[in-house]
Amino acid sequence: MDVLVVGGGGREHALVWSLANSESVNAVYCAPGNAGIELQAQCWNIPADNVDMLVAATVDRNVDLVVVGPEVPLAAGLADRLAAEGVACFGPSENAAILEGSKAFAKEFMARHDIPTSAFKVFDELNPALNFVADSPWGYPVVVKADGLAAGKGVVICNDPDEASAAVRAAMMEQVFGEAGERLVVEAFMHGIEVTCMAICDGEKALPLVISQDHKAAFDGDEGPNTGGMGAYAPASHVLDEAGTERILKEVLQPTVDGMAAEGRTFQGVLYAGLMLTDEGTQVLEFNCRFGDPETQAVIPLLNEDFALRLNGIANGDGVGGPIRWSDRHAACVVLAAPGYPGKSPLGLPIHGLAEPRDDDVLVFHAATAREGDQLVTNGGRVLSITGLGDSLDTALSNAYGAIHKIGFDGMHYRSDIGRRGEDKQ
Ligand code: GLY
Repeated sequence: MDVLVVGGGGREHALVWSLANSESVNAVYCAPGNAGIELQAQCWNIPADNVDMLVAATVDRNVDLVVVGPEVPLAAGLADRLAAEGVACFGPSENAAILEGSKAFAKEFMARHDIPTSAFKVFDELNPALNFVADSPWGYPVVVKADGLAAGKGVVICNDPDEASAAVRAAMMEQVFGEAGERLVVEAFMHGIEVTCMAICDGEKALPLVISQDHKAAFDGDEGPNTGGMGAYAPASHVLDEAGTERILKEVLQPTVDGMAAEGRTFQGVLYAGLMLTDEGTQVLEFNCRFGDPETQAVIPLLNEDFALRLNGIANGDGVGGPIRWSDRHAACVVLAAPGYPGKSPLGLPIHGLAEPRDDDVLVFHAATAREGDQLVTNGGRVLSITGLGDSLDTALSNAYGAIHKIGFDGMHYRSDIGRRGEDKQ
């Protein structure tokens, strides 16, 4: 089959890498891709959010399967538009992507279906929101979330009433998140250990992928601003073992797929559950309707099967299939970020060291890279994802960090403590 991957980050590079290695795949396309992806796929110069152009090019090239990376085209109805053209798409329809597209929908959905999450309240107007946060019934911290898609930036953890009222004003008066912040969710802060559980879903059944753990803070020790993710590792089985994963399937993933189907929002694609393991049990922090980034760069390399066949089966209505075959190895992904990230980063910084010979147990996934003549340069905040593989987490980490020491660009920063978050649970 000919496959199109939509997106151009590290997650999409990992998907392209996996699909390009599949015997069932003839050609891999990627839109828009990046300077690393273009070595493994034919890149189309179409932005990931241009649904009209993506549909037209997909039909024109007779693509058999589309795999969508980011949430924006899903929330804009890309899967529905492809279905109308008879093209198989792995990813949810617009009315199911609302699970990520509206935080208020997600919280109210969880309340309707007894899926564990923290207490919350939804606000459409400024004054009631300000009055509420002035005297939070749950104490502090509280979390103020923009309802809509805000490129991973719409969540503010507020330690006291002043911070919370500043966050409410910023969203509702100054519109720092644009339309996404016109409605807000205020929720009780969850204390515990965070894990990611992604499941592939066929509308009826959820099949979990290996548990992973992301590292969202910019700096070591979980210090600094929140980012899209500075690194991930898998499996995080010392944080959540097989029995724990089975419990998440029963308490969170399957009830979500069932509830969405019962509400006429059949969910096909990846259900990403960000979970907090609290002293009172597991609670859902967030749902996403797509693969996680950088979790995907740690999870996909552990597959021991033809993932293209699996995704194609789901997209064509043949169901999730039997148990997924995993290798018994470990993977650790470290994100190399540009100076200033997660704030504004300069573009066009020359990247050195990528042509050096590399061990088979190191995978370099490009995230924000471009080519200027013969020179690879940075093209955004999260520049590269370096995944190390090994027979233990320690070996995977030492392979990843060993490779990183040969790579560089001005102001490059990364966390040196990836894979160490779950240790308090050991
Ligand atoms: N790593 C977090 C996310 O993909 O949303």
